[in-house]
Amino acid sequence: MYLTPLEEKILNGERGATCQKAIEILVALGDIYDADRLIPIKSTQIAGVSYKTIGDAGLEWISDLKGKVAVPSILNPAGMDLECWKEMGISEEFAKKQKDIIKAYKALGVKIECSCTPYNIYDDLASFGDHVAWSESSAISYANSVIGARTNREGGPGALSAALIGKTANYGFHLDENRKPDVLIKVDAKFRDSDYGALGYIAGEMVGDKVPFFRLKSKPSKDELRSLGAAMAASGAVALYHVEGVTPEADRYEAPRDAITIEEKQIKDVYKSGPGTGSGEPDLIAFGCPHSSVDELANLARLLEGKKVKKEVWVCTSRAIKDRNPELIERIQRSGAKVFCDTCMVVSPASERFKCMMVNSGKAHKYVPNLCGIKSVMATTEKCIEEALKD
Ligand code: F3S
Repeated sequence: MYLTPLEEKILNGERGATCQKAIEILVALGDIYDADRLIPIKSTQIAGVSYKTIGDAGLEWISDLKGKVAVPSILNPAGMDLECWKEMGISEEFAKKQKDIIKAYKALGVKIECSCTPYNIYDDLASFGDHVAWSESSAISYANSVIGARTNREGGPGALSAALIGKTANYGFHLDENRKPDVLIKVDAKFRDSDYGALGYIAGEMVGDKVPFFRLKSKPSKDELRSLGAAMAASGAVALYHVEGVTPEADRYEAPRDAITIEEKQIKDVYKSGPGTGSGEPDLIAFGCPHSSVDELANLARLLEGKKVKKEVWVCTSRAIKDRNPELIERIQRSGAKVFCDTCMVVSPASERFKCMMVNSGKAHKYVPNLCGIKSVMATTEKCIEEALKD
């Protein structure tokens, strides 16, 4: 891989050990994937934040790094709400370790916004055509597909290395030739809301890491596209998709000949089946995977208006969205539902004390049984609220 004279100097340790390690990681990735060079990036989104997932080894690695990030960088959700962690039932010991991780990232100049929806917080992290290095799978899918920016599926160390150098290796989805669709997915019904998460749940299992091109009967909103992409990235490994007439790069391509059809009945089946489903009453109903947008909070506030929940209900969102919308948060909380920031129902150990989680997200439905060790049931947003209000 070609390196500029300055990059060679960094590789030789002239900018210190942290930058040397970071560029070594980028060069190693570039060599594996046959990149020709490093390219400048606009931002990074760094996974590897929850103490539940990175443990002491991760904390030690981040704490040993010295220096500052070279581009705007934002964190993935942590293992707890950084303010209301006691209300989540998080232990003092976990909280201390989690705060140490946050402190270590802060020392590197990373913004302490822990969210998988950075595009809903800042407008300038990624625009059409920008190269970025993001590492949470739903954020990657959104950046590539809905924004039209370009990112590979970065691991936590790869994204942090890219943040420190301000560059990433030029391969994969950074290149035009890898962004063309491989398979046409025709859908025979009109969908809304969580149906897109259920569609993504099925489509991801069918296409693996291919680039699907959807021909839909209804026009999804940005939140619905986000749910579709998040679920496909979880049940498969889809990092980029196109939707005919909707996503920004779709009109560059012809629909692929290789085609599959997904029927309405298959979507309905996701609501009835899936990992861990089949027995057990939900004792936790959780919204906000990916983190709730303002429109989603407004919908929940409307559905909960004047009512009291009878079960534990969590709404996960980013701290910035919570702070900017106090009236919506108040209306949700008045029902007894809890609003948590900086974390989510999957990456926090707080969910593990429940038996069965009901979600309106295809991604959470896929991950909850494996990562939280509890049952998962998926339903529409309205059905989830109905369940929350039942005695
Ligand atoms: Fe975000 Fe957690 Fe879901 S990181 S996409 S809310 S699993």
